[in-house]
Amino acid sequence: MKNKVTKAIFPVAGLGTRFLPATKSIPKEILSLVDKPLIQYAIDEARAAGIREFIFVTSRGKGALEDYFDSAPQLESRLRKAGKEDLLKTLRQTTMESGAIAYVRQREALGLGHAVWCARRLIAREPFAVILPDDVIAAEKPCLQQMVEAYEETGGNMVAAMEVPPEQASQYGLIEPGSIKDRVIEVRNMVEKPAPKDAPSNIAVIGRYILTPAILRNLNRKFVGSGGEIQLTDAIAEEIRNGGKVTAYRFDGRRFDCGSKAGFLQAAVAFALERDDLRDELFTYLEGVVMARKAAQ
Ligand code: UTP
Repeated sequence: MKNKVTKAIFPVAGLGTRFLPATKSIPKEILSLVDKPLIQYAIDEARAAGIREFIFVTSRGKGALEDYFDSAPQLESRLRKAGKEDLLKTLRQTTMESGAIAYVRQREALGLGHAVWCARRLIAREPFAVILPDDVIAAEKPCLQQMVEAYEETGGNMVAAMEVPPEQASQYGLIEPGSIKDRVIEVRNMVEKPAPKDAPSNIAVIGRYILTPAILRNLNRKFVGSGGEIQLTDAIAEEIRNGGKVTAYRFDGRRFDCGSKAGFLQAAVAFALERDDLRDELFTYLEGVVMARKAAQ
């Protein structure tokens, strides 16, 4: 099996209920931090890591996502005539070469593991990445690129990981750590959202994975786990029991949970404060809000 990771699966078939009513007609992944949709952050990160083929697992109502990656001839010609070169450049980053992007459907939202399994026919004997666009990671070197570089040494299966406050650990997939070398942790077991007393650690799995086809074979059994869903975590844990290698990579960066409203808002503020055109105005506004709140207390 070759070791180079050139394909990525983007599971985007979830219902996005936490963002209703917005997600009644707009896919969650089109929601934007300032002016860039969540999916564009994920694509940019994948490209930086050397991904060349992009597989989207979609569902009913996600048509806007397919349109987003198409060329927009009318819009482009308008911008060209108006001499708006910078906007044209931004727009070019959103289009995909013909054939580089594939869409498969998940007919029913049966869980993340099931969504990944839906892409099985597009994966050969090769490792592949999985990126969850609602985990947005701000990092000097994009998270998946960090992982791909480490993966060249480790091989096997790799998940992104970070420490979370122990009282929040039960909201995540958690690893049981073994030996640790720099940022790479041996994974002895993984459990999805365990009860606090069963938590093996407070090291949580975050939405970036590099997996082998063995995981897809494990998903064939369609085992139903935590929350009544087919869990990717369970298929990876099975691989450990089968003697496969799984490591966790403690990435360098700041992760925002953009699947939750609070996380999404924090990310929007953090990214806006990084921008020269918005920083000062937003900062002055935030300062005013904080001062008014303190004065009222
Ligand atoms: P979430 O657990 O955030 O679920 O899925 P969700 O449906 O997107 O959002 P809520 O909880 O209803 O607000 C994590 C990722 O897995 C994908 C989602 O699209 C998201 O990227 N997913 C989840 C699927 O593609 N299919 C599923 O059956 C479940």
